[in-house]
Amino acid sequence: MADLSTKYMGLSLRNPLIVASCSLVKTLDGVRKCADAGAGAVVLKSLFEEQLRAEARDQEEHLWLYGHSEAFEYVSKMAMPLGPREYLKLIEEAKDAVPIPVIASLNCISPRWWIDYAKQIAAAGADGIELNISAMPSDPGRKGEEIEDLYLNIVETLKGSIDIPIAVKIGPHFTSVARIAEQLCERGASALVLFNRFYQIDIDTEKMELTSGYRFSSPDELSLPLRWIALLAGRIDCDFASSTGVHDGTDFIKQLLAGANAVQVCSTLYLNGIDQIGRILDDVKSWMTKHGFETIGEVRGRLSQVKSDQPELYERLQYIKLFTGID
Ligand SMILES: Cc1cc2nc3c(=O)[nH]c(=O)nc-3n(C[C@H](O)[C@H](O)[C@H](O)COP(=O)(O)O)c2cc1C
Repeated sequence: MADLSTKYMGLSLRNPLIVASCSLVKTLDGVRKCADAGAGAVVLKSLFEEQLRAEARDQEEHLWLYGHSEAFEYVSKMAMPLGPREYLKLIEEAKDAVPIPVIASLNCISPRWWIDYAKQIAAAGADGIELNISAMPSDPGRKGEEIEDLYLNIVETLKGSIDIPIAVKIGPHFTSVARIAEQLCERGASALVLFNRFYQIDIDTEKMELTSGYRFSSPDELSLPLRWIALLAGRIDCDFASSTGVHDGTDFIKQLLAGANAVQVCSTLYLNGIDQIGRILDDVKSWMTKHGFETIGEVRGRLSQVKSDQPELYERLQYIKLFTGID
């Protein structure tokens, strides 16, 4: 019988399937359903920086009302310990309710709001924190280096404040994904989640209005994380979780072969129901048995670039028949 147990960001997982941060895991009931369906771990729905700021503002206004305007600075500092309590409660209850690791998720764009709150998340029992750092680099006057420093600063600041492991979920839009990945790990990330799928925008041509694009991924989107995990696994001293485009057992196995320590799924659970977790894991087990693998370790990274006998194919950006046989 194939053994699916694995390690990810220093945590022991019964299998490498992680339910990605999304609304399916924003309640205790949702977390329970994912664990009952067989997930190896869950990443809770993100707490957004704006939520913390809003709560801090409420506290400030409260004190202004009662004539303590001089307490403004004090309240700014105190706002974090008063941060969204429901999230801490969810962590505590989830830890009591399920036998799998519960990873909290913070959506941040600056380090200053998070230090005290991250400590509370650790104290509430979270097994790890996933930082969804998503600074939109839309300002032409802002240098790429500045944006990268922001990412590194957030990770370093939080790493110095908490003892639980940190994963960083990033998007693919860096000039050098390899360099930022290495630096994030040097500054304290135990794992990288490749990649965040950003909110999609669209335009309604009749109403001539901005609309929301399709919110779920398609399996075609698998290739980008697949390539980067294959390129970086075994080269950078860090664990990798893939995210985006994994819809079935075959997609899942591809990411393991590329070198992922864990695979996050979201859209497929919305589209096919929570029982898709069991179907994916059954497919992985059957495939391992068919190919004579007993452990996930034997599968992981077999087709990563460092182990490949055709490493140049991973770096190929254009179709050139001479090398690939494809026009
Ligand atoms: C409804 C919905 C809500 C999401 N909320 C979050 C979130 O709060 N934080 C986060 O990091 N990612 C969030 N995501 C992104 C997913 O975690 C995941 O990275 C993305 O959907 C790509 O994976 P998939 O192809 O398996 O869907 C959300 C996705 C969906 C569809």
